[in-house]
Amino acid sequence: MADRLIIFDTTLRDGEQSPGASMTKEQKLRIAKQLERLRVDVIEAGFAASSNGDFDAVRTIANTVKDSTVCSLARANDKDISRAAEALAGSDNKRIHTFIATSPLHMEKKLRMTPDQVFEQARLAVRFARRFTDNVEFSPEDGYRSEPDFLCRVLEAVIAEGATTINIPDTVGYAVPELYGQFIADLRRRVPNSDKAVWSVHCHNDLGMAVANSLAGVKLGGARQVECTINGLGERAGNCSLEEVVMAVKTRRDFFRLEVGIDTTQIVPASKLVSAITGFPVQPNKAVVGANAFAHASGIHQDGVLKARDTYEIMRAEDVGWTANKIVLGKLSGRNAFKQRVQELGIPVDSEAELNAAFAKFKELADRKAEIFDEDIQALFSDESVTPHDEHFKLISLAQRSETGERPHARVVLAIGGKEVASEADGNGPVDASLKAIESQVGSGSELLLYSVNAITTGTESQGEVTVRLARAGRIVNGVGADPDIIAASVKAYLNALNKLYTTTERLNPQTSLAP
Ligand code: KIV
Ligand code: ZN
Repeated sequence: MADRLIIFDTTLRDGEQSPGASMTKEQKLRIAKQLERLRVDVIEAGFAASSNGDFDAVRTIANTVKDSTVCSLARANDKDISRAAEALAGSDNKRIHTFIATSPLHMEKKLRMTPDQVFEQARLAVRFARRFTDNVEFSPEDGYRSEPDFLCRVLEAVIAEGATTINIPDTVGYAVPELYGQFIADLRRRVPNSDKAVWSVHCHNDLGMAVANSLAGVKLGGARQVECTINGLGERAGNCSLEEVVMAVKTRRDFFRLEVGIDTTQIVPASKLVSAITGFPVQPNKAVVGANAFAHASGIHQDGVLKARDTYEIMRAEDVGWTANKIVLGKLSGRNAFKQRVQELGIPVDSEAELNAAFAKFKELADRKAEIFDEDIQALFSDESVTPHDEHFKLISLAQRSETGERPHARVVLAIGGKEVASEADGNGPVDASLKAIESQVGSGSELLLYSVNAITTGTESQGEVTVRLARAGRIVNGVGADPDIIAASVKAYLNALNKLYTTTERLNPQTSLAP
């Protein structure tokens, strides 16, 4: 029997640290439910001690998710650990993940602690965490840049105190595969009680090697847990991508000889959900979940695939959850047909009110677009006006004019806090004119960091999905909007981002607010 590789997803904790990716409790819960459907072994739901909002999110997920272990991060102190334990109390299947930095640089400059103090704090933290659960993970932060003798001493002590998982983070993405794999192997060989714990890898992608490093940690180092995120989401260049690791291990089972418990058909739905909620688009050529990952443009490839699929395909698109753009519903489809398709797609609907709001949006869309695909239905549920939130800025109407040789002009009518206002502006293009018209009314003074448009399905009838990223006073938010008219989609995305900037609903972003 092949060994089992544990998949530990940290989209909701480490992934959420990406600029603008902060989520509300409801959004985190939706992603957690999808991760459970994906059958990840462990969901790191957040960092309970970081804020009341994140505490609440971890608690809600712990009380809801049954089939995956739910985990909270905690610094190596009693206060953080108690808070994590309290948030996880409702779960029968919980883990506390405690960490402290062990590299000379982090200990001296960040923690201002001596190695002996760090050693003692790590040991006591694991001892304390074991009071609440026998499933305790310990991470030496910046572990890969730590001094091996000291690290071995710390790891031996925390295993003796009852840590059941030892995770070795490459916090700054400095490792290269062979060296990282060897590093894990050396630690396992040198720590006398290493066989009492599962060894885990946690790699950041600063040099584009997070997946390769993680796989080397597994193959060469003997790690049996990989920490990863959907779409490789994470701050800076991101974390190790779940879909790539899982499909590498599955597709090259001949080499890795490991089992993973993931339901791979849920990978693409998970990718789309995370992208829509966080406003981080997936690059088209991204392995497994990119729009082009299974597209064969060259004539030679197309010919080969038609004759025998495996000439150019090593995985099947449907095995990772891609569905052909199937026409599923249309203008005449009723509420029951809509509800059934939503259920078949596994979209979590929390209330009849939410379903009704989505159905009303579906009807509006079906009036303008003859064929409604699964992707359109997914996008309807990513539209935040369907899920409860503060909508201070609302689009009432949009008119714009652009003609060859003329400067484009837009007129936008908004409801701001319930009061209708109209504004007009010229711009370089119709999108520019529309966003300028909004700004002339709102005066947010925010800086536009990103504007991107993607087609949700194929063909010119497709809805455009727009992402904008705004920054103001040190805060970064992403907004997403979908519409068959890409100028309307742009306006919706911009208003969605403004609503986040002005919202009173707490958006969680665990670690950014914390001092070490
Ligand atoms: O990258 C890192 O070091 C982490 C730890 C907190 C596990 O995310
Ligand atoms: Zn990390």
